Amino acid sequence: MFRLLSQITALSAVLSPVLGQQVGRHFEIVNSCPSAIELRINGTLETTLAPGGNTTRDYGSWFGGYMYSNANGGNLVTGRHIGRAGFHGEQDYYWIVVDHDYLNTGISIAPINKAATDGFCAVVSCTSANCSDAFPLTAPPTSFATPITGTPPNALMHECPGQNVGYTITFCPDGNWPTAPVAGPPSLHPSKDSTKCLGVRGDKFENGTPVQIYDCNGLNSQSWILERGSTKVRSAGTNFCLDAGSTPGNAVGMKIWECYDSLPAQQWYYTDDNRVELEGTGLCLDLTNGLAVNSNQVQTWKCTDGNTNQIWT
Ligand SMILES: *[C@@H]1O[C@H](CO)[C@@H](O)[C@H](O)[C@H]1NC(C)=O
Ligand SMILES: *[C@@H]1O[C@H](CO)[C@@H](O)[C@H](O)[C@H]1NC(C)=O
Ligand SMILES: *[C@@H]1O[C@H](CO)[C@@H](O)[C@H](O)[C@H]1NC(C)=O
Repeated sequence: MFRLLSQITALSAVLSPVLGQQVGRHFEIVNSCPSAIELRINGTLETTLAPGGNTTRDYGSWFGGYMYSNANGGNLVTGRHIGRAGFHGEQDYYWIVVDHDYLNTGISIAPINKAATDGFCAVVSCTSANCSDAFPLTAPPTSFATPITGTPPNALMHECPGQNVGYTITFCPDGNWPTAPVAGPPSLHPSKDSTKCLGVRGDKFENGTPVQIYDCNGLNSQSWILERGSTKVRSAGTNFCLDAGSTPGNAVGMKIWECYDSLPAQQWYYTDDNRVELEGTGLCLDLTNGLAVNSNQVQTWKCTDGNTNQIWT
């Protein structure tokens, strides 16, 4: 390590007068997702990026590690559902790793001011869980051969030689959440009947479409993204959220609405005992009249201990 650091320092001293820049890595990190996302670099929460927002990071020497977000159902505990941009700066390598079962955010890596030539410096992009240009979650690269000059690395690994190459990393490069989750995040079942699912009526993703109970069918319209504790309840692969309306109360029918940050009608709390409370109101997501029948629109109702109509598994 000491030898490496002194090599970097020596190179930097040689190159600085020529290139007018320190040896290092410059990153521009852009959020093109429909909502704010948390940017994580190698395990550390760095910042929150607003939709359309960006941030830069500069490393004094070659950066190795991963950039990713837990947005849209990415699970930091298990590492599942997350798309990652990987770098091994010493070898000028970069690549993407995704969970091919479900991808939380699309991701792309583009060398800055370097055209793709002869298999080097290509833009690598992955916008769906089944994308082909990404290592699977189960087999990320773990060893990094010294590059052979003039020969690009094998498929899935990418290389852009040059000590001062920077990269733009874009989350959701197509402007949307990935639309093709393969296995999707879990459905929400009323505790009374696990063959029934909470879903969007008629698969109609429009403001105001009722949220109802129906036979589980494995469609996206029955997949929800939520977390324990304070959470939105978002329909997977869309920008629509479970919405309790502007006058919350007993017997108010639930619907979907475009997701907005800090809108009280979309701010829920998923408890450890599987209740979904409209945060701070004492109102819970409730199986209307206790009927687990097709097309029954769900409602909010006063949270009551032991009420099985309010348990969602
Ligand atoms: C980052 O944001 C700034 C200010 O809005 C903008 O001028 C710049 O083009 C953005 N950079 C990228 C890479 O999107
Ligand atoms: C990120 O993690 C990798 C793998 O543990 C490590 O080799 C690398 O030094 C880390 N990078 C930074 C910038 O902390
Ligand atoms: C990935 O899934 C999408 C949506 O289901 C489909 O349109 C596309 O053809 C698939 N791509 C591959 C490479 O299988």
